[in-house]
Amino acid sequence: MAQPSTNQEIDPFYVMEVVAAAQEREQSGEAVFHLEVGQPSTGAPKGAIEVAHRLLDEQTLGYTTSRGIPEFAPALAKHIGQQYDLDVDPGRIAITQGASGAFVLALLAAFKPGARVAVTAPGYPCYRNMLTALHMEPVALNVDASTRFQPTVELLEAAGPLDGVIVASPSNPTGTVLSSSEMTKLVAWCDEHHVRFISDEIYHGLTYGESNSVTATSLSDNAIVINSFSKYFSMTGWRIGWTVLPDELTTRFDRLAQNLVICPTALSQHVAIAALECRDELDQHVERYTNNRQILLDGLPAAGMTDLAPADGAFYIWARTDHLAADSKLLAAEWLRTLGVAATPGIDFHPTEGHKYMRFSFCGSPETMRGAVDALTKWRLRQLAS
Ligand SMILES: Cc1ncc(COP(=O)(O)O)c(C=O)c1O
Repeated sequence: MAQPSTNQEIDPFYVMEVVAAAQEREQSGEAVFHLEVGQPSTGAPKGAIEVAHRLLDEQTLGYTTSRGIPEFAPALAKHIGQQYDLDVDPGRIAITQGASGAFVLALLAAFKPGARVAVTAPGYPCYRNMLTALHMEPVALNVDASTRFQPTVELLEAAGPLDGVIVASPSNPTGTVLSSSEMTKLVAWCDEHHVRFISDEIYHGLTYGESNSVTATSLSDNAIVINSFSKYFSMTGWRIGWTVLPDELTTRFDRLAQNLVICPTALSQHVAIAALECRDELDQHVERYTNNRQILLDGLPAAGMTDLAPADGAFYIWARTDHLAADSKLLAAEWLRTLGVAATPGIDFHPTEGHKYMRFSFCGSPETMRGAVDALTKWRLRQLAS
């Protein structure tokens, strides 16, 4: 019998192969320095965990409205006010299942099938894969060191007709940040050309040195802003995020949310509101990331990696490795097998150029960073000697 046609092929997320191989190595009793995943090694802040314990005893935690519990959007509006000195109508804020959940609903609310949406290469692979799964067309903007791996108006103009663009600042995998004037130019161009600007602000709160993150909400009422409790708030598995929507998309977004997900997880919503008040503990994580970043920036050159993207934000270093090995996927496998160092080959982030790069995540412990740098330096010395 003829089978119904399936959805289009979706690429795997190769980092999961590194994660599986690293786990296998650990199960056989060998140590692994984890620099492969962008997942803080810490959990939700303590004050938030206390709320979780209490609520499990006190509440039934049933469905909430698709927008979340009534106090959540005002709490986020206050947070946005404090972060960016900006007044946002809580009616524009929807609570979601992480940034990922926000993306699916926002893309469906904003675009029709066939929409052409620009994404950077290198960039976060799920943008491309989500667009494909939703029968939209990801349009690659090939970015490199000359624009600090961020898009420019020139690249947008050269991309052909567009319906939208997704920008991440700080970005994954390169960690680079758009300046306020660069972001302003991109948003203005999008408004002028009726191209929907989608700003992934999941790494806001994680910037180093002079870098500062601008929210697209401050630049245009047409922009969709997506954020999450996964990174700065250290709450990956709680699956909670939010979006600030243009007024004209809120009703469509709500209807999609009601039908596709009903509501975000109730317990996570309460815990996330409490996490908004735990800034002291969370800022200590940022201090650790700052220190870890320095350990890698100081140590990777001795391991042969000198071409590094400026790690302005997030918790990643994007390093060129094609002078060490032609294919970073094979190099990552070799490092894991021989050194116990787990890093992510660039293929996930850039389908055609990714084999020349490796991404190192520095959200683990300083001991992990030092151990990895030490092992990689010895490996490089052996490589040079052979
Ligand atoms: C740039 C970027 N956007 C979105 C996500 C998805 O985050 P969430 O856990 O909030 O779904 C990630 C996760 O690593 C990411 O790096």
